[in-house]
Amino acid sequence: MTWCCLNGEIMPIEQAAISPMDRGFLFGDGVYEVMVQIDGHIRANSLHEARLQSSLDAIGLSVSVADVFADVVRLTKKTGLLNAKIYVQVTRGASPVRDHGFPSQISPTVFLTITEFEAITKKPVKAIVCPDIRWRCNSIKSVSLLGNVLLLQEARESGAQEAILYRDDLVTEASTSNVFLIRGQSLTTPPLSDLILPGITRHLVIEMAPTVGLDVVEEAIRVDSLPGADGLFVSSSTRGLMPIVELDPGGLVGNGQLTEAFVALQAAYDERLHYHE
Ligand code: PDD
Repeated sequence: MTWCCLNGEIMPIEQAAISPMDRGFLFGDGVYEVMVQIDGHIRANSLHEARLQSSLDAIGLSVSVADVFADVVRLTKKTGLLNAKIYVQVTRGASPVRDHGFPSQISPTVFLTITEFEAITKKPVKAIVCPDIRWRCNSIKSVSLLGNVLLLQEARESGAQEAILYRDDLVTEASTSNVFLIRGQSLTTPPLSDLILPGITRHLVIEMAPTVGLDVVEEAIRVDSLPGADGLFVSSSTRGLMPIVELDPGGLVGNGQLTEAFVALQAAYDERLHYHE
């Protein structure tokens, strides 16, 4: 049975019902978080709390993040799952009248789901490279994901696992993850800006990279420099560190093999997942 928590009430997912007037459904007016729990511990819990707070602030939605995360704990206890993927969605709620502007009387909808998760070391894959067609406020973890949805679908229809995106010839991120490039002992990732999500995995990778001898550089990456890199990977809570060895267009990245630096970083990340401070 899949359990969820809707507005503080834990129930089987089949029993959860949300009004069709919910602004999340009508306008994509809401934000979300995706977290992984490993060995019963949510990875980087406080970073997820802080990012949810910042997404809520960015859309002018007032909800207690502490209460949301207390519900997360209750839900994880109820299911007894040790390794899980947890989804938190907060929308502005339902109002009787459809109007773009915020209604004065409205209570948010808070919806949580939890499903089993297996952290497996990701195999090398192919990515398409395409223009970033999304809006310009991607640092908000908004549920308005149509651009991301279409881009990932395009990747899958091309036999690829991710879509690496660019604007004005510079890499932004990927449809569901952040992008890193390896050249020798240097690890480059685009700097934080409105154009990308401040990924929690990105943050952890930047923290860990020096422990395996990589120097981190947060600077713009030209899209035409991708195939010439020694290595390329994307990062996200659910994908972990996923190596990209082939690009479309672009062909093989470097010599199409995993670099030693990447293998060391991926091993450090896998270990980090099981280290609970
Ligand atoms: N996606 N960029 C985008 C556009 C993302 O959707 C994600 C995460 C990331 C990486 O963020 P993090 O490391 O905090 O997971 C970057 C999640 C997993 C999702 O929407 O399912």
